[in-house]
Amino acid sequence: MESPFKANILKGKVALITGGGSGIGFEISTQFGKHGASVAIMGRRKQVVDSAAASLQSLGISAAGFEGDVRKQEDAKRVLESAFKLFGKIDILVNGAAGNFLVSPEALSPNGFRTVLDIDAVGTFTMCHEALPYLKKGGLGQSLSGGGIILNTSATLHYTAAWYQINVAAAKAAVDAIGRNLALEWGTDFDIRVNGIAPGPIGGTPGMSKLVPEEINSKAKDFMPLYKLGEKWDIAMAALYLASEAGKYINGTTLVIDGGLWLSRPRH
Ligand code: HXC
Repeated sequence: MESPFKANILKGKVALITGGGSGIGFEISTQFGKHGASVAIMGRRKQVVDSAAASLQSLGISAAGFEGDVRKQEDAKRVLESAFKLFGKIDILVNGAAGNFLVSPEALSPNGFRTVLDIDAVGTFTMCHEALPYLKKGGLGQSLSGGGIILNTSATLHYTAAWYQINVAAAKAAVDAIGRNLALEWGTDFDIRVNGIAPGPIGGTPGMSKLVPEEINSKAKDFMPLYKLGEKWDIAMAALYLASEAGKYINGTTLVIDGGLWLSRPRH
């Protein structure tokens, strides 16, 4: 679908997108690139990030892939340094990397719980922490007049409770708290805006195929009145809005992009 935004709204900006090689992250990478940004993609699988970067380059977008795991502080540091060396600055950090699997609390080992917290919550904090020298007002490659932007990826399942996703729910609750606290402290001290995006069920994503089995998806309309799948494009447009000047007064919020699903209740 064609973008409603002008093609230059991120012109001259450099974005680093974790988990940017596949799924929703790749759509954000693509749309940021199509709207003028240079894009650094970070992910655990070298082949995935390299081929994602190559497909952006084939669209004329300045892009590079960097292998790295957000659970490793040294990877975060190295990838940020490499992206900075290549592009000369970093304006936007998108924390898109996430892990998940469906499991009941009684079958989940503490290490399985910790693994998702490590990727989503600690990984988000680690990336923010290591990116601060680049994102802050007057930081490496930044002007003295303004700082950069952080976009975290959240969800809505922790607003209520979700079956078999205790680890993801706990992790995303932490991601929201990290976002609000950084928005307060880094907004004040460093002129960095920190916001979140909370996708609902989005078609054609690993999250959908792993977390929403087809038999549930096909029956969902029966008990969730507003249930319909979103597109990766919907999430990327919200990310663009928050990352562009259009969102310059938005700080510390999480934008839910789910067609109203999480509020929906059956009619009685
Ligand atoms: C139970 C599991 C498990 C499963 C792993 N574990 N998979 N337990 N059921 N299906 C447990 C393991 O037994 C182990 O604990 C611990 O977790 C670590 O497992 P590893 O395989 O060693 O971890 P790792 O190789 O690091 O992989 C972690 C991973 C990750 C979380 C499984 O690879 C992953 O999920 N990647 C998915 C990426 C993805 O789909 N991204 C899209 C995100 S969409 P023990 O105790 O045995 O040592 C999204 C949407 C969320 O996040 C919300 C939507 C509404």
